[in-house]
Amino acid sequence: MLRLPGLIDPHVHMREPGAVHKEDWSSGTQAALAGGFTVVLAMPNTQPPVIDTPTLHHALELASQKARCDYAQYLGAGPDNALSAPALAAHSAGLKMYLDQTYGPLRLDDMTLWMEHFANWPAKMPIAAHAEGRSMAAVILMAQLFDRPVHIAHVSRREEIVLIRAAKEKGLKVSCEVSPHHLFLNKNDLAALPGGLGEVRPHLAMLEDQQALWENLAYIDCFATDHAPHTLAEKDSPNPPPGFPGLETALPLLLTAAHAGRLGMEDIISRCYTNPRRIFDLPEQPETWVEIDPDAAWDIHASKTFTRSAWTPFEGQPVRGRVIRVILREQIVYQDGQVLGQPGYGQNLRPPVL
Ligand code: NCD
Ligand code: ZN
Ligand code: ZN
Repeated sequence: MLRLPGLIDPHVHMREPGAVHKEDWSSGTQAALAGGFTVVLAMPNTQPPVIDTPTLHHALELASQKARCDYAQYLGAGPDNALSAPALAAHSAGLKMYLDQTYGPLRLDDMTLWMEHFANWPAKMPIAAHAEGRSMAAVILMAQLFDRPVHIAHVSRREEIVLIRAAKEKGLKVSCEVSPHHLFLNKNDLAALPGGLGEVRPHLAMLEDQQALWENLAYIDCFATDHAPHTLAEKDSPNPPPGFPGLETALPLLLTAAHAGRLGMEDIISRCYTNPRRIFDLPEQPETWVEIDPDAAWDIHASKTFTRSAWTPFEGQPVRGRVIRVILREQIVYQDGQVLGQPGYGQNLRPPVL
C-alpha cells in the first residue's frame, strides 16, 4: 500500500448548472474521489456560463450543497465582463479564457478583448487559457505584455510543447497542463472510438505529438483530466459534442505508466499535487491522503464508474494501480469502490461571494 497526497485536478467540467443529465456536482465529485482527487477546479462553460456575481453565486451555491470533495469555481472571460470580473477574482479559481472553438458559448475571438482581460485581472490570480497552436503563441505574448503568468490548458501537440519549452527556457511566466487522453491516445485510436466518441478538443493528435509530450515531461507542470462528460446518446448523435470523461481513469493510467517505468511516482505527485497547488495557490488539506495499491491489476470499465457520462475512451484497457481509500479532512470519503463522502462535505477553497 502506498500513500499519495489528495490529488488536485485543475480542469473539470461539472455541468451544473444547466446540464445535470451529463453530470452534476454530486456525481462529478463522486467520480473525483473514486479517482483519488480531493480538489477539483470547475470550468465556467456551464448553462448559463459563470461570468458575473449572480452566476458565480449560483454555481457556488449548488456546489456547497452537493460537492463531496473540495473545489473552486473558475470565472469565464466574456466579451463584456473585463471590468467587472476582477472584483470576483479572489472568490474564483481563476479566469478561464476560451480562445479557440470548443464546447459552450464562451469564446473570445478579437485579441483586443483578450487584452482587456489581461489588463484588468489581478496579476496574482491565475489565468488559464484554452489556446491551441498559434492562439497559444499569441496568449503567451499577451501574458508577457502584461508581465503576468498564464496557464495553458490541455497541451496536445508537439509544436505547442516545443514552444512552451522555449518560452520557459527564456524565463517566461508560462505553465501548462496535459490531459491523460493526449498522453495515452492518438489519432490511431480513433478507429476504436467510432462516430462522435472520438470527438474532443483539442483533437487527438498524431503519434509524433504524443511522443513529444512524453519527451518533454520536464516542461509539463500539471496533469489535468479535462473531465468533460457527455452522454453516449449525445456522443452518438449527428452533431456530437467534444469531450471525454477522465476523473476515474487518470490516476490508474498514470500508475500504469509508472509501473512500466515511463515516469516516476514523484512525477505523478508533482504534476497532480505540488505544481497545481502552487500555480493555483490552493491551501493545504489537513489530514488528507489517498491510499493506492500500485500493483493491483484490473480492466477499465465504464460500467464501474460514477460519472453520469457512462462511457470511457479507455474501455477494456488493462491497468496496474488502484485507489483503495481516500481520506479527506480525517474522514474516509472513498473505500473499496464505495464513495462515502456525502454531498455538502466538500468545501470551497476560496472565500465565499457575499
Ligand atoms: C470541453 C467540454 O465539453 O466542456 N470539451 C472538450 O472537448 N475538451 C470543453 C473544453 O475543455 O475545451
Ligand atoms: Zn478546452
Ligand atoms: Zn475542458
